Amino acid sequence: MGRSICHNLAGRDNAIAVVDSNGEAAETVAMELREKGAHAVACRTDVSDRAQVDDAMHTVRSELGPVGILVTSAGVAKFEPFADITLESWNRVMAINLTGTFHCVQAALPDMVEAKWGRVVLISSSSAQRGAPRMAHYASSKGGVIALARTLALEYAASGITVNNIAPSSIDTPMVDQWRVSGAIGSSDAMARNIPVGRVGTGDDVAAACAFLCSEEASYITGQTLSVNGGSYVT
Ligand SMILES: NC(=O)c1ccc[n+]([C@@H]2O[C@H](COP(=O)([O-])OP(=O)(O)OC[C@H]3O[C@@H](n4cnc5c(N)ncnc54)[C@H](O)[C@@H]3O)[C@@H](O)[C@H]2O)c1
Repeated sequence: MGRSICHNLAGRDNAIAVVDSNGEAAETVAMELREKGAHAVACRTDVSDRAQVDDAMHTVRSELGPVGILVTSAGVAKFEPFADITLESWNRVMAINLTGTFHCVQAALPDMVEAKWGRVVLISSSSAQRGAPRMAHYASSKGGVIALARTLALEYAASGITVNNIAPSSIDTPMVDQWRVSGAIGSSDAMARNIPVGRVGTGDDVAAACAFLCSEEASYITGQTLSVNGGSYVT
């Protein structure tokens, strides 16, 4: 999903920093973007570690300049019955999905405040909207992400910065592939049968929604959850 978002935003003349704990994957995406003529750098960063996030932000500022758009897509998901979730597992999911989002936003916002313009898009999940059995830690972390987006939207509305979140569901990505291999979910076809539009989503579906929220046309939209889910959860 992050890769698709990077490609979409690079195609709209943005310089891109690809920040991921998988340094090789981040460098591959940055290379793809440079091959298309974009200005792109990669940072191997564990978003749960504030020192690493601050280091990445330093690199990004010195290589690309101030941050105008932040999309937080790094995340982990686990399927574990509630009674079996250890404190360690709970804390790890929270540390990456929620605290990692906090670190990235807090580190990037000063540039947007200075510029009096900014776009923040947090990736949440439909699991926070409708609940998700065996994913109490994951769904709770994403509920926190939605609350964070709403709160920051209000705190920074007068600074020219919009903060929204995208709640995807059933997007065909490596994360969902892993779930399929582990037997936690069914095949793509089986998933598609339960989605009103009749297909699973793609990274490009999410990237298009994200690009809209980052555009000038979306300047009156803040604090919102944009559900990219093929109609599988309708609010
Ligand atoms: N795929 C879906 O159907 C779906 C549905 C709802 C929400 N989401 C959310 O969308 C986001 C993107 O997910 P995806 O489907 O592309 O999954 P993915 O596993 O393909 O990508 C997640 C990326 O996060 C990176 N990452 C993991 N831990 C990290 C850490 N500590 N620091 C930095 N990077 C880290 C991984 O290396 C990976 O590149 C996630 O936040 C996920 O929870 C996905």
